[in-house]
Amino acid sequence: MSSDISSNTANPRTIVNSCGVLVDGAGRILFVHRRPDRDRWPDLWYIPGGEAEDDEDVDATLVRELREELGIEVQTFEFLDTIFDQEPQSGRRAVHNIYAVHTYDGTPALTAPEEHDALEWLALDQLEAHGVPASLQAVLAPLSGAEPDSAPSASFEHVDHEDAWDRLSAHYQEFAKIPTHQVHYGAGTPTENELQLLGDIAGRSVIEVGCGGGQNTIAFKRLGASRALGVDQSNEQLDFARALAADEAIDVEFLKSRAEDLAPIPDASFDAAFSSYCFQFVSDIAATFQSVHRILRPGGRFAFCLDHPAYMMFGGDGLTLTKPYFQRDAEFIWPFDTGYVTRMTAVYHTIEDLFAALHDAGLVVDRLLEPTFTESDTGNWSRDVDRAQRVPRTIIFAAHKPEGLT
Ligand SMILES: C[S@@+](CC[C@H](N)C(=O)[O-])C[C@H]1O[C@@H](n2cnc3c(N)ncnc32)[C@H](O)[C@@H]1O
Repeated sequence: MSSDISSNTANPRTIVNSCGVLVDGAGRILFVHRRPDRDRWPDLWYIPGGEAEDDEDVDATLVRELREELGIEVQTFEFLDTIFDQEPQSGRRAVHNIYAVHTYDGTPALTAPEEHDALEWLALDQLEAHGVPASLQAVLAPLSGAEPDSAPSASFEHVDHEDAWDRLSAHYQEFAKIPTHQVHYGAGTPTENELQLLGDIAGRSVIEVGCGGGQNTIAFKRLGASRALGVDQSNEQLDFARALAADEAIDVEFLKSRAEDLAPIPDASFDAAFSSYCFQFVSDIAATFQSVHRILRPGGRFAFCLDHPAYMMFGGDGLTLTKPYFQRDAEFIWPFDTGYVTRMTAVYHTIEDLFAALHDAGLVVDRLLEPTFTESDTGNWSRDVDRAQRVPRTIIFAAHKPEGLT
């Protein structure tokens, strides 16, 4: 790199940049192309970011620059490395502070067209062909293999679940498009309308734990439940649920409550309890089943489903063993078509753990189902059909609270 001392002397301040690394679920990194007519570093693929303003904290620079350049609101990030550089045209020296961006709101878009003329998610093996500087490639190299179910990458962070669901709710609802005409146990799985694990719900009260967007709660009411209450920890999910119920003019209730205590629901107040795809986000499954036992009337039924723990052993191409069965906590990296990626911890309770927690809570297991995956109209959230046809996608339990006990 040539050194132009005169221009350094004329313009001596070192440029201090903050740049962000956004990784999608396939391990690709977001790059922007700097316009050919720019004064500095023209016609270059680089990660988004820019120069600190006078006295600006460099962390604040990252947040501001990504807001200006991509239209996103960075929430959490981590400093990765510093790259020392020299601008080829002017010879000015620069420091690029590189950050891993863990979570953000919004969908990255080209919001500074005067600076960039293209935006692309690039795999590491595309960087050379795009002329990405070697110094940046070296910092990004350890982030390789950030595939959805792979080992932790430098950009992985365990995110609080309530916060994570508040942030991803809109993306999830847009993607899953869950119908409200039947009670579902996940995509590709027979519905409660078919399985009848809770029996005839007409005239009975039902609570849905981890109701998300409320589609099942609404469906229970359509099936004739006397009362249908959906509880969830996420305000955003509950807001979606309330709006959906209002749209469909269905009289259901929603309440913010955590599965682990189901506060403030009174003891023995429901005939049936149901949950679909919530418990893989709940660590304390023992407390959860005790709470369900508490709020059920004697004789009350409980049916729930979650990711089958065997299904969750496979990642990468979907057929590669990536997690031991006995490893409960696992990273859950969930990319959406919108470009939004969420990272959180999921808990893949083993079948023995689930059975023991039900038993210890005083619930009697009636049935355990591992349904064969079938094409169905229950929504759009399971794309890995190949894996689902080899390993059970969903595990379903049906249990009840014995009569005469409280
Ligand atoms: C995959 S969604 C499923 C929602 C809904 N049952 C459905 O089928 O769309 C998981 C939901 O569980 C909720 N959840 C996770 N952990 C929870 C907890 N400890 N207590 C209450 N809700 C929880 C999340 O907020 C989210 O809305």
